[in-house]
Amino acid sequence: MPVSKRRRRPALRLTAALLALGGCSGAPSALDAQGYAAERINLLWWVMLAIGTVVFVLVTGLLLLALFRRRDGNEPPQEHERRLSGRMIGGGGVALPLLVLVPLLGFTAFTGATMTPPGERALTIEVIGHQFWWEIRYPEQGFTTANELVIPAGRPVELRLSTADVIHSFWVPQLNGKMDLIPGQANTLTIQADEPGEYRGQCAEFCGRQHALMALVVVAETPERFAAWAETQARPAAAISDPLLRQGQQVFLGSACVYCHVVRGHTEGNSTEAVGPDLTHLASRRTLAAVTLPNTRGNLAGWIIDPQAIKPGNHMPGSDLDAASLQALLAYLESLE
Ligand code: CUA
Repeated sequence: MPVSKRRRRPALRLTAALLALGGCSGAPSALDAQGYAAERINLLWWVMLAIGTVVFVLVTGLLLLALFRRRDGNEPPQEHERRLSGRMIGGGGVALPLLVLVPLLGFTAFTGATMTPPGERALTIEVIGHQFWWEIRYPEQGFTTANELVIPAGRPVELRLSTADVIHSFWVPQLNGKMDLIPGQANTLTIQADEPGEYRGQCAEFCGRQHALMALVVVAETPERFAAWAETQARPAAAISDPLLRQGQQVFLGSACVYCHVVRGHTEGNSTEAVGPDLTHLASRRTLAAVTLPNTRGNLAGWIIDPQAIKPGNHMPGSDLDAASLQALLAYLESLE
């Protein structure tokens, strides 16, 4: 019985390894490259893996050779050792590393220097890291949004990355490598999504308790759909006449919401500082709380009442609104399309 058990173990291990490797395919894996820079990183990765595999096999072979090789009986032992060690140091210690590492260094440097996609830049977007969400400004179109980075597909987009507090790191594995967001400095990263689609991103530098729930999504649209989206986003929030929505707006302006959130067209004249996400077109976003929750009425209610239960340590305080005020507030927020 123990023999059959022992035999089963390698099979189990192999299955587990294959299952784990299965996680490497598909979104948001860097091995499923969907943009210019990511494709180059991907190629470099496979070349390094191939060379690494050859070196590993070679070194393992030499190790086995050293273990099992017998000395030719006619050769004196010292002569034998001298001849072998000279060959090993010259070949394995100098020539082989030079042959492997110099071309690899050259290829890595070449890849690093050619990460920016050719072609005319579509636009520049500012991405500002906050604990624990992403502020996204479109300076050319004059509006601000959060956590969902909408870009036109098939064109390079330049991101200016900075931070409002601590160091974060912008990483959308299918589009490009990581780039840090550093206080007092703006870093630049150019991304391009070849096809329309959604590409998940993640803060890749530990930045506090909710680092893990500091996600973002890049939404690549056709140029026409992007232009239509940008035109809607640039508009201020629509004027309100419905009594329930007006009541909800009064709740918003009369509670703590307005100290941190802007609704363009509605919050001017109130002492608003944009320390939280711009909510002008909140209802047009797919998710809440940095891609933590789908943007539904129930999730929005839960987030407003007790955000600390959903993302402990985030900077949004809870609320003790009565049911009628909460319903009016939800109706108002859901009208911000
Ligand atoms: Cu922001 Cu980790």
